[in-house]
Amino acid sequence: MRRYSRITGTGSSLPPRRLTNADLVAELAQRGVETSDDWIVERTGIRARHFAERDVCSSDLGLEAARNALDAAGLQPQDIDLIIVATSTPDMVFPSTACILQNKLGANGCPAFDVQAVCSGFVYALTVADAMIQSGSAKRALVVGAEVFSRILDFDDRTTCVLFGDGAGAVVLEASETPGILSSDLHADGKHVGILCVPGNVYGGKVLGDPLLKMDGQAVFKLAVGVLEKAARAALDKAGMTDADVDWLIPHQANIRIMQSTAKKLGLPMDKVVVTVDQHGNTSAASIPLALDHAVRNGQAKPGQTLLLEGVGGGFTWGAVLLKL
Ligand SMILES: CC(C)(COP(=O)(O)OP(=O)(O)OC[C@H]1O[C@@H](n2cnc3c(N)ncnc32)[C@H](O)[C@@H]1OP(=O)(O)O)[C@@H](O)C(=O)NCCC(=O)NCCS
Repeated sequence: MRRYSRITGTGSSLPPRRLTNADLVAELAQRGVETSDDWIVERTGIRARHFAERDVCSSDLGLEAARNALDAAGLQPQDIDLIIVATSTPDMVFPSTACILQNKLGANGCPAFDVQAVCSGFVYALTVADAMIQSGSAKRALVVGAEVFSRILDFDDRTTCVLFGDGAGAVVLEASETPGILSSDLHADGKHVGILCVPGNVYGGKVLGDPLLKMDGQAVFKLAVGVLEKAARAALDKAGMTDADVDWLIPHQANIRIMQSTAKKLGLPMDKVVVTVDQHGNTSAASIPLALDHAVRNGQAKPGQTLLLEGVGGGFTWGAVLLKL
């Protein structure tokens, strides 16, 4: 009998400090950086985002999301036999945020590692966890997307600092005789490294190069719109399904215009698209599990429904995961 993996619990976490566009506009004005609520809403759909306090790391947000997902699945930390954290804002250079989270959670002993695929991180991590469960090397995985992007924003660059936020989302993925995850389709193209990156690195105790986020917004926009449709269609083809079978599209929450364009290309109306970008901004690897948890908890996404998750981000990376809830 084929072994599948299935999501049995979701959870999320947002730091309490919430900044509306008006709050951010006022803070930026103090630095001499000019922007407006109208510009941000019109170009991105973002109205608010959450920023973590200085002493809060990705593992702290991931921990709360993980505990919520475990509660929803009716499991204890010791029941978990695999932890994967998708993050581009790790607590430390090493060890992995997954190991730090594992210790905070009290799930010590099981394999734990990070996946680095920027905003596609969660679909990458979910695909890896699914493969490990299908192969029999894990039974109950915790898959987390956790970010503190506020740490790597250049608040003098209005073209990027208004776009991102902090947060975490998590799922418990368990072995199951019924699907579960139906298919996935992942890609990367390293020739686009420069259009979205944090180019600095650590050398001899100092940061070499710029440690803040750089983005060519228009290049990212164009690439994202093209590849997301292809990955979504490939995941549907692999499962022998069509866009008509999709109950909910849960895209990476970067920009409402990218989401609208992808939904249109897939022939899906916006009332089948889970939208949280207005309240969270772009939380990178956390955005999809945050949106998924939001949809589950507010009763939008129901057991038995077909969900299409899709992510795109720095690398350039992109991918989609099709699943039955
Ligand atoms: C970043 C993004 C919102 C910019 O929107 P855009 O329509 O491409 O805007 P442009 O870059 O052409 O800039 C238009 C004008 O707005 C200005 N502008 C940029 N940021 C601004 C801000 N925060 N407030 C006010 N004006 C701003 C620019 O300076 C430019 O002014 P100019 O015409 O006088 O030169 C858009 O390109 C985008 O969403 N890209 C994808 C980003 C993304 O999703 N990244 C993450 C992927 S994982």
